[in-house]
Amino acid sequence: MAFRLTSEQIQMQRILKNCFSDPLLNVMNFLNEVVLEFPKAISFAPGRPLESLFNVEESLGAIQSFVDYQIKVNNLSRAMVFGDLGQYNRTNGIINEFITRQLANDENIQIQPKAVIITSGCQEAMATLLMGLFDPAKDVLLASDPTYIGITGLAKLLGISVIPISVTEEGLEVRAVTRAINEVLATGKRPKALYVIPDFNNPLGTSMTMEVRNEILQIAYKNGLLIFEDNPYGMFAYDEKRKPTLKALDEHGVVIYLNSFSKTLFPGLRLGFLVADQQVDNSKYLLAEELSKVKSLTTINTSPLLQALVGGLLLESNYSLLPIVEAKLSFYRTNRDFMLNRLAEEFGSNGLDGAVKWTCPAGGFFLTVTLPFEFDAECLRVCAADYGVVCCPMSFFCLSRGREHQIRLSFSYVTKEEIDRGIRQLNRFVQAQIAQNRLA
Ligand SMILES: Cc1ncc(COP(=O)(O)O)c(C=O)c1O
Repeated sequence: MAFRLTSEQIQMQRILKNCFSDPLLNVMNFLNEVVLEFPKAISFAPGRPLESLFNVEESLGAIQSFVDYQIKVNNLSRAMVFGDLGQYNRTNGIINEFITRQLANDENIQIQPKAVIITSGCQEAMATLLMGLFDPAKDVLLASDPTYIGITGLAKLLGISVIPISVTEEGLEVRAVTRAINEVLATGKRPKALYVIPDFNNPLGTSMTMEVRNEILQIAYKNGLLIFEDNPYGMFAYDEKRKPTLKALDEHGVVIYLNSFSKTLFPGLRLGFLVADQQVDNSKYLLAEELSKVKSLTTINTSPLLQALVGGLLLESNYSLLPIVEAKLSFYRTNRDFMLNRLAEEFGSNGLDGAVKWTCPAGGFFLTVTLPFEFDAECLRVCAADYGVVCCPMSFFCLSRGREHQIRLSFSYVTKEEIDRGIRQLNRFVQAQIAQNRLA
């Protein structure tokens, strides 16, 4: 007979870590599943690209381009190249040189292929860094607040303390970084790294000014702090020239750069990468090479077949993602503008006296709306079930209080018609809430 623990024993033995009761750990699943939970509702919740913006079937052909290239450049037989793609492979990846060229072309980041780890999504890049660099008893992570839940949830799971650094209109409250460093040092712990999304931030949609970029690079250098720069939205600039990444500005080797192909190509690839070109003391290896020990014990290596697909797409586009992204930019720009227009039409003249405010992001997938009441998980359910529109409370991404009145609206995963109806329905919900609060 199979041995089974009763639910009482499971509780008694505390099978799950304490942190499982933390709501932070639910947010990622929630965002992925909310679309399924309210299938008829219009969803402004997920930061997904719309399926019509990528063509998986057509992209599969790029594997052939990669194979042809390998045959030609490495003088291998077709069978050998395909055999390699079906085999376990190099831990840190097989398209590192392709990524190096793309970063040089698109971001003016100059690095060697051995500084790159190709990961199973950017999520694995974060996991590799937290597992490889942090001793939870000693090391503390600073993170912009609100921030991407992928890193804060993971830190919680690994028992790593996170200190919130507030995000301002300029991108980050620089003085809070110095304050946090001093506070952590005073407790005898080490501030190890600062996690930021400088360009078209998730969840706020804001970007760092050049001044803030330069200042935090200096602070990091002076205090021996690493910066984890996460940049999945940087290429999606709608109004202005793209700003240089922290990595491109980094003169002292403080930045570890992370990116994802989920937005530029498609999320089903589960492909991302990190760049860690720091020389490790007492080692002849770069940090990325040392970190391969972590990767070898988590995912062993990232699917070579999927790397071949991305490698092939990069080959076909001359080692640049710009032509691929260019085709999507006008869709996202139009969606953003349309959402802004509809917000102005619905909330600009409804007698709310400017009580509903929203931001105008210069790029990325998200904008922030501030409401005259708190929008929590219960509001989300009522708004989805009764008004047919799903919006994400900003508090889901927050480490500290202060943004309970805000929601994140994503304009990446909706058509114009859906934006039109969705904003109208959101207005109905807002009016109903205000009326109800007045009566209460
Ligand atoms: C800031 C940020 N980093 C990383 C990711 C996840 O990347 P991946 O799908 O490659 O794991 C996302 C996805 O939404 C994101 O917004």
